[in-house]
Amino acid sequence: MHRLIGLKRIAALVVGGILLSLSTAAISGSVVVEGSKAAGIESCVAPTADMRRNHMDYLKHERNEVVYEGVRGSKYSLADCVSCHASKDKSGHSIPVNAEKQFCDSCHDYAAVKITCFQCHRKVPEEK
Ligand code: HEC
Ligand code: HEC
Ligand code: HEC
Repeated sequence: MHRLIGLKRIAALVVGGILLSLSTAAISGSVVVEGSKAAGIESCVAPTADMRRNHMDYLKHERNEVVYEGVRGSKYSLADCVSCHASKDKSGHSIPVNAEKQFCDSCHDYAAVKITCFQCHRKVPEEK
């Protein structure tokens, strides 16, 4: 009897632990990808917590300013997100930021967010 209860508790702890690690990976673990410029520097264009929560609003605001008002040069450029957050493969070619497991995909896949931005916008940095 004791043994059975003990096993149930262990099973519950294991399941709880898996759920906990899944959620913290998505919420607090950094998803910055290896091989991107971002992996080598300290901070984003705004504090990380702020970016996690508000990047969609910043991007939309930036788009409105550029497309409808002709204002350029503020810090939330989509081209800049891509150039800093895109990784490279072994042969040095850029990997699209929205490819599976890449920066923009990692959270969006988890959160079931679909963005259509990259139908028009470059998903790899512009070659200089
Ligand atoms: C010059 C490089 C650079 C640019 C440009 C940049 N980022 Fe970042 N970004 C970073 C770095 C570095 C971090 C990680 C900061 C940290 O670890 O605290 C980061 C973190 C983030 C995070 C949080 C990731 C996490 O693990 O929770 C998001 C979301 C994000 N960036 C989105 C964007 C978006 C959207 C843009 C364009 C508007 C952008 N970034 C532009 C360098 C950049
Ligand atoms: C139908 C094509 C199309 C789609 C889809 C699209 N854009 Fe754009 N976007 C443009 C064009 C054209 C411009 C103006 C040219 C430029 O500056 O790149 C622009 C400019 C921008 C800019 C200012 C320039 C820059 O690089 O920062 C931002 C920010 C932006 N778009 C964000 C977005 C976001 C976020 C999405 C997805 C939610 C999106 N766009 C979807 C066509 C599109
Ligand atoms: C730390 C996790 C995380 C990262 C990294 C991330 N996003 Fe997001 N993004 C989200 C979440 C979560 C939402 C949905 C928020 C909501 O529904 O309120 C979202 C929503 C968006 C939206 C709005 C979609 C819509 O339909 O309104 C855009 C645009 C967007 N992200 C662009 C980007 C781009 C571009 C990148 C890569 C440069 C990126 N995100 C990286 C978590 C992330």
